[in-house]
Amino acid sequence: MKKTLAIIGVTGKLGYRVANKLANQDKYDLIGIARNPGKRSFDHFKNISFYQIKGIDDIENLSNALKKADIIINTGYVWFANHIHKALQKAKHKPEQIIFIGSAAIFTRYNVPSKAKRMAGEQSVFRNFKHWTLIRPTMIYGHPQDNNISRLIKFVNKSPVIPIIGKGKNKIQPIFIDDVVEFIIRSIDNPNVINKEINISGKRAITNRELFLTVAVLLQKRRILIPIPPQIILFGIKLFRLIGQKPPVKEEQVMRFLEDKNVDISEAVQLLEYTPRDFREGCGELIQTMREEGII
Ligand SMILES: NC(=O)c1ccc[n+]([C@@H]2O[C@H](COP(=O)([O-])OP(=O)(O)OC[C@H]3O[C@@H](n4cnc5c(N)ncnc54)[C@H](OP(=O)(O)O)[C@@H]3O)[C@@H](O)[C@H]2O)c1
Repeated sequence: MKKTLAIIGVTGKLGYRVANKLANQDKYDLIGIARNPGKRSFDHFKNISFYQIKGIDDIENLSNALKKADIIINTGYVWFANHIHKALQKAKHKPEQIIFIGSAAIFTRYNVPSKAKRMAGEQSVFRNFKHWTLIRPTMIYGHPQDNNISRLIKFVNKSPVIPIIGKGKNKIQPIFIDDVVEFIIRSIDNPNVINKEINISGKRAITNRELFLTVAVLLQKRRILIPIPPQIILFGIKLFRLIGQKPPVKEEQVMRFLEDKNVDISEAVQLLEYTPRDFREGCGELIQTMREEGII
């Protein structure tokens, strides 16, 4: 029987890609929930209807949108959980499964404001829902608007020297966006992942140094890495603030750069029977896209 699947945040980078994978499938009637559905083109979809909400705290409209959903995917933020719970209570409706996208950033040892917000969101998931799945990706890259690796590619492409915070020995394990989408798609209606927290990332952890050098090698550019002591960067940030300027990086970003961000994905690989790309492969695909689009 056809199921109704609602996507919250359907106009987002992840939400739109997940929706596209489910477009025109006989298995699902889709409900797209967004603040501004006109932000993206859905003309090619035959199986989607829209509900506009003023924001995630617009419980009235959110409740209407969710009342018939068998499955819900929240590709907005994990801290939407409380609002979704309220909307489902108002609709007196219990979906078969609700998939939340969290973030592996929750594992940071620093008490950044977003950590408390994410933790409260996750607690709401565990407390308020019966059949949930929580997927926590590491840094997502793989498209020219990713704001992380695509920016690095542009920089490495132009600059003969690459400053790096510290020695670059800390580990990182970014995940290609299509792999995040694949993990989400494989979680839908999947009894293996009910009430499971699943950490996902790229296939293998690498050091920040290796990541920078991989980008240079793939671009076929000889580049020199210049390690900058973190204390100097932190001092520079203070100077920017002292003269009333916005620093190019925040203290939080510097500290996060200096901690290991690798995660164990063996459970995700086993439960969802999918192995994500290695960084070298994903970065190569991204460079090709950026070349085709004339960005580099
Ligand atoms: N990007 C990463 O590197 C990364 C890494 C790990 C985890 N994640 C997680 O992945 C998820 C999706 O990320 P993304 O990169 O796809 O983000 P995105 O492109 O910014 O999409 C977020 C979606 O949420 C909607 N939204 C934001 N605030 C809202 C509000 N107050 N009320 C209603 N809707 C709201 C946005 O609506 P509009 O389209 O109207 O703005 C958009 O559709 C998030 O949970 C994020 O924490 C991302």
